[in-house]
Amino acid sequence: MQSLRPVRRVAELLSLGDGEVQRAQPLVNWFHRHVCRSGRWRRRLEGELLPWTLQRVELGDDVLEVGPGPGLTTELLLNRAKRLTALEVETNAATALRQRLGGSTVRVVHGDGAAMPFEDGSFSAVVAFTMLHHIPTLALQDQFLAEARRVLRPGGVFAGFDGVDSLAFRLIHLSDTYTPVDPDTFGQRLEAAGFAGACVERGRGRFRFCARRHSPIVAEPAAGANHEERGPGAVPTCEPQARSS
Ligand SMILES: C[S@@+](CC[C@H](N)C(=O)[O-])C[C@H]1O[C@@H](n2cnc3c(N)ncnc32)[C@H](O)[C@@H]1O
Repeated sequence: MQSLRPVRRVAELLSLGDGEVQRAQPLVNWFHRHVCRSGRWRRRLEGELLPWTLQRVELGDDVLEVGPGPGLTTELLLNRAKRLTALEVETNAATALRQRLGGSTVRVVHGDGAAMPFEDGSFSAVVAFTMLHHIPTLALQDQFLAEARRVLRPGGVFAGFDGVDSLAFRLIHLSDTYTPVDPDTFGQRLEAAGFAGACVERGRGRFRFCARRHSPIVAEPAAGANHEERGPGAVPTCEPQARSS
């Protein structure tokens, strides 16, 4: 029986089922871990993916990154955020990151994005880069979206990017947790989680997203005015932009 398991796993991953493939562990396989700490990935993040994702997003002064992994994205965010917190669910990854970035101002917290150990309204922005598909079920992904909204200040922004399901993406995830996110329905899921102005845009093999937490009006609105307003600095937009390649 034992010998059939890898075959079954490959069959599961290659199946074109409902897009929800699960397993208990690990969240991220060896290959993926290796890629996520490589110089090549750093250059791609720095030169292309973070500028593409955060092009029109102002993060504000207190940023939470969920799923930093080895922390290449965290290091790049240091230039953009006055205060930065990184929330990582894997114990070893959180410990390693805390040690590696010990001399910096980053606060590394061990915990689950679907049950965040933070007060309501703590952050000006929440970001998540290529981590959503590592959350084992669609229900837990939705829980994560709701948590991201909860810990944002009114008007705060939620932004990130993730991969789009493909055979190559499935193969990279052999023996880890892989629950791909459908960009075509992700905007609705963001809105169901309580976000406004959800914007989801595809690049090659990836999609980026941004949305903001509703900001209640403080002054009496003019007749016919929108009862929500944009938060300071948080300006998600779906205007045409350069594509990620
Ligand atoms: C593929 S790595 C991405 C690392 C980094 N963001 C990057 O783009 O290079 C995904 C990370 O998300 C973490 N992760 C997955 N689910 C999580 C959750 N529910 N809460 C916090 N971190 C999570 C994984 O442990 C892993 O370290």
